[in-house]
Amino acid sequence: MRMMEEKILSEGSVLPGGILKVGSFLNQQIDTCFLKEIGEEIAHLFSNDHVTKILTIESSGIAIAAAAGIAMGVPMVFAKKHKSSNVDGEVYSALVHSFTKNTDYNVVVSRDYLTCADRVLLVDDFLAAGNAFNGLLELCRQAGAEVVGFSAAIEKGFQRGGDKLREKGYKVESLAVIDSMTDSEIVFRT
Ligand code: G4P
Repeated sequence: MRMMEEKILSEGSVLPGGILKVGSFLNQQIDTCFLKEIGEEIAHLFSNDHVTKILTIESSGIAIAAAAGIAMGVPMVFAKKHKSSNVDGEVYSALVHSFTKNTDYNVVVSRDYLTCADRVLLVDDFLAAGNAFNGLLELCRQAGAEVVGFSAAIEKGFQRGGDKLREKGYKVESLAVIDSMTDSEIVFRT
């Protein structure tokens, strides 16, 4: 998505440790007109996949996933993050390691909101190592739901999470894929 690349180049900044700061339009302040475009682009990319539900993870994925859900006319569910694995049998739960924050947390979703009848599109703001998406994939496996694909607003291609999912045969459509970045240059995959 050319607009995503332009936004990253004009408003993003690269922080030490390979972190891209996009707080001005995606992570803290949200450019709502642009958010609408993001939702419509994701809907377009998955228009033939008969998606019944969008699944994301709190907190930064929620806005994008909601925009995609609105554009596709389907519900959006967000997995919650729990420090401990206090599983009570009423939720699906998976352990996720955060590469960026070097912590572990559990993602949980109520069994009421994910079922074997669902065709699920997984959406998030960033796709880096892919740990968050793999946690969501595990929740779908527990529910017996079918995963039709993945969409991230920004994929950090150099962390390989997206390519590993593609190698497993999944459809992964990121709106911008960054192959390399330094504080002076950001290179997108063509
Ligand atoms: P992974 O899921 O692909 O393995 O990535 P990782 O564990 O590293 O990501 C952990 C968190 O950091 C996620 O948010 C992810 O969205 C965010 N993140 C990863 N790389 C970047 C980056 O370059 N820039 C920014 N701005 N965020 C990045 P989170 O910890 O779950 O926090 P939040 O969703 O509550 O904000």
